[in-house]
Amino acid sequence: MAVIENSKVTVVGAGSVGSSVAYAALIRGSARHVALYDIATAKVEAEVLDLAHGTQFTGSSDIVGGSDISVVEGSHVVVITAGAKQNPGQTRIELAGVNAGIMRKMMPQLLEAAPNAVYVIVTNPCDVLTVLAQEETGLPPERIFASGTVLDTSRLRWKLAERAGVATSSVHAYIVGEHGDTEFPLWSKATIGTVPILDWVTPAGDRMTVEELDQIAVDVRDAAYKVIQGKGATNYAIGLSSARIVEAILGDEHAVMPVSAVLRDFHGVDGVALSVPSVVSAAGASPIRETQFDPKELELFRRSSDALAQVASTLRG
Ligand code: LAC
Repeated sequence: MAVIENSKVTVVGAGSVGSSVAYAALIRGSARHVALYDIATAKVEAEVLDLAHGTQFTGSSDIVGGSDISVVEGSHVVVITAGAKQNPGQTRIELAGVNAGIMRKMMPQLLEAAPNAVYVIVTNPCDVLTVLAQEETGLPPERIFASGTVLDTSRLRWKLAERAGVATSSVHAYIVGEHGDTEFPLWSKATIGTVPILDWVTPAGDRMTVEELDQIAVDVRDAAYKVIQGKGATNYAIGLSSARIVEAILGDEHAVMPVSAVLRDFHGVDGVALSVPSVVSAAGASPIRETQFDPKELELFRRSSDALAQVASTLRG
């Protein structure tokens, strides 16, 4: 499916998220070559072996990897998952200080190895790290963006699809803003097929209420906390979402996805990375400027922006 010949994606970080991104990319055939890079030699070599042992049962993708930076060379896409992860009860923002340090150290080396790649930042807080990494590398904002709320949007669509009795792919709804506590759904534009969400008659014969939708938004926002509480991390769904973003880039799909690039004069937001529906292609991510918010959504969007701008400014020192 990839239109770039001999396409290569490198996943940086062989923890549970990075390994799951590589696993999903292998199974989905997201790239011809999947590479896994980490400075922890024993761990990354073990993950690569474990993945390689299954390639009889995957498509035409192969897996390589290790702790030498040369692993990253020739990548068309680099997915960054390295960094500290959330502990139970911890917010993504609380990881900002330590992960910004890791990002600062890592980015110049990655960029030297893969100067033409598109960079997808998954490490949390992904929006804040995207701003810092974009500023420090000077890459065009299109070429360095966060996975953002692609995963949160999938969580939302799954919940709505179940209630509405339709396929997830028939739910047209987006979570936007921070990948974190200030995110929110663009309810004003949410439809099932072409039917506005509040008009849809469910298999139970009723309609969803505003109160129910508010609760769904809260559940989606807090979904990762629940998973982390139970198993210590989230990995499968972020693995799948990230592999899907990689495919949109390598396939030059121009797929609309809520990824998070540094915004320029977007509904009054400037110099902050927030998820908005964006066109994802081989050139990277391009926020869709025509996206409309109702007044309440605009207020929430700016609140999300203010919160993240504040965190980024403390990290700039
Ligand atoms: C989550 C992590 C990836 O939302 O932030 O599952």
